Amino acid sequence: SQRMRMLKRQMECRNDIHRLNAAFLAIYQSLIPPEEERAKQNQLLALLEKLVCKEWPEARLYLYGSCANSFGVSKSDIDVCLAINEDINKSEILLKLADILQSDNLQNVQALTRARVPIVKLMDPGTGISCDICINNVLAVVNTKLLRDYAKIDGRLRQLAFIVKHWAKSRGVNETYQGTLSSYAYVLMCIHFLQQRRPAILPCLQGMETTYSVTVDDIECAYFDQVEKLRNFGSANKETVAQLVWAFFNYWAYGHDYANSVISVRTGSIISKREKDWTRRIGNDRHLICIEDPFETSHDLGRVVDKFSIRVLREEFERAADIMQYDPNPCVTLFEPY
Ligand code: CTP
Ligand code: MG
Repeated sequence: SQRMRMLKRQMECRNDIHRLNAAFLAIYQSLIPPEEERAKQNQLLALLEKLVCKEWPEARLYLYGSCANSFGVSKSDIDVCLAINEDINKSEILLKLADILQSDNLQNVQALTRARVPIVKLMDPGTGISCDICINNVLAVVNTKLLRDYAKIDGRLRQLAFIVKHWAKSRGVNETYQGTLSSYAYVLMCIHFLQQRRPAILPCLQGMETTYSVTVDDIECAYFDQVEKLRNFGSANKETVAQLVWAFFNYWAYGHDYANSVISVRTGSIISKREKDWTRRIGNDRHLICIEDPFETSHDLGRVVDKFSIRVLREEFERAADIMQYDPNPCVTLFEPY
């Protein structure tokens, strides 16, 4: 009868992880944007294209960020890049652009020419969508494609990243101006994590044969983009999203070597701070959590993190890991507002 009790306990555990997984999948489903949203985004993009081309016939608009990388949750703002070949400075173009948009009944048009990435912000009353437009940020358009291509390989990446982003927003750790991480950084953390599972769930696309290559600002961006051929890549690994969420937080809470390691999607591995010369503080770059940008490899996406916010972040990772381990209802507690 002890055997029976053990068996029963095992069944209950299995049941728990089953139920937990179903609950995470339900959260994931509820975050996916409905098809109408895509149509509205395209409607706004078409309007912007019309207005921009009147002034600059050669200019092109590209979507980037979460509306184009497949990691956008419902009701996200859209990020647009204006690619233009003119030599006048960005501020002038942005001010001119703001002028044009203002006169076409778009609302809250604002040119932020002094931001780190200068943009024009606006809201379209027709669709209710807000939008940021930047100039010639072609690297962002290319890294958007990389993220989208990774998402096509294994559905668990999108599931995991939605849960992690939702957690980060609920817990207030998705605020770069407060020293926590961008959504882009969190998605890279998820990709890297899935590259590291054994068996691996994602390959390292930049380590494979080049089928796509562009050079942007002297940076060669090259990788294998025929991802339809990789649809079965992760199939030997049977982990579910609940298990992956648990392991993800466990890694960032207790497994990661913050003192010496850099996570690198580019190489599909952990590399050392020393080899990147990220061991010293230079200016405001402290490198307290190191996430290498896949193309702009001198860029540490953790550079926004300071000695205060690193504690906040690590405490949140530990809280999340402990909830996954001990809480009777993780998929509620995990997302409780801070
Ligand atoms: N980006 C970048 N370098 C950064 C931050 C962002 O190149 N340090 C680019 C990436 O192309 C990213 C886009 O800007 O996809 C938007 O960044 P972010 O707002 O962090 O991500 P989103 O995917 O748009 O997330 P959210 O849903 O929170 O808007
Ligand atoms: Mg965005």
